[in-house]
Amino acid sequence: MDNTGDDPLVFFHKWFNEAIKAGITEVNAMTLATVDAAHKPHARIVLLKGLDTRGFVFFTNYESKKGNELNDNDHAAVVFFWKELERQIRVEGVVEKVTATESDAYFSSRPKGSRIGAWASPQSQEITNRNLLDDNYYKYEQQFGADIPRPAYWGGYRILPHKIEFWQGRSNRMHDRILFTSEHENSWSKSRLAP
Ligand SMILES: Cc1cc2nc3c(=O)[nH]c(=O)nc-3n(C[C@H](O)[C@H](O)[C@H](O)COP(=O)(O)O)c2cc1C
Repeated sequence: MDNTGDDPLVFFHKWFNEAIKAGITEVNAMTLATVDAAHKPHARIVLLKGLDTRGFVFFTNYESKKGNELNDNDHAAVVFFWKELERQIRVEGVVEKVTATESDAYFSSRPKGSRIGAWASPQSQEITNRNLLDDNYYKYEQQFGADIPRPAYWGGYRILPHKIEFWQGRSNRMHDRILFTSEHENSWSKSRLAP
């Protein structure tokens, strides 16, 4: 693997498009790791919903467990695994909230049920039973009608990467690992790691 070029975000795009072409399901699913105030890690899947020259965007509830963890510690890591291509991509960086305009634009593109769901679910909080969700859903559906605003507590984060590693499985476990490390803005150094 010597075709990675000098810009890991450009190369990520190339691999992402190849994964789409290969028909990989949930190609944008990534495991997001965050660290809480007691330095304990927590991981869960979220969906990549945007990628630009600055970084990787996902959307969530800012008051969820992950939201609180990112509030305490803005460092985050994500991992993609595309089994059929024997590829893994690891990203490490710090998060920033995307602008309200970006969150509004994405929120309004979501299906009506998902928009009401964002109001109905106090994400990560303990709830007494399933009925609470159904009751909330009904309540907000009645309250808003067709025009469902974005809750202030719901929006996007952008992971500004400082490390991106591309892993390509090869025979005899002699896999390729190419690590990009950010020196300063838009400048990356590249190294090869033993598998
Ligand atoms: C395939 C898949 C995609 C998911 N996408 C998201 C997402 O984009 N945003 C989100 O907040 N949760 C998403 N979830 C749910 C999270 O994994 C998690 O349950 C939820 O965000 C609460 O996490 P927390 O309590 O650590 O904050 C997804 C789960 C799966 C299995």
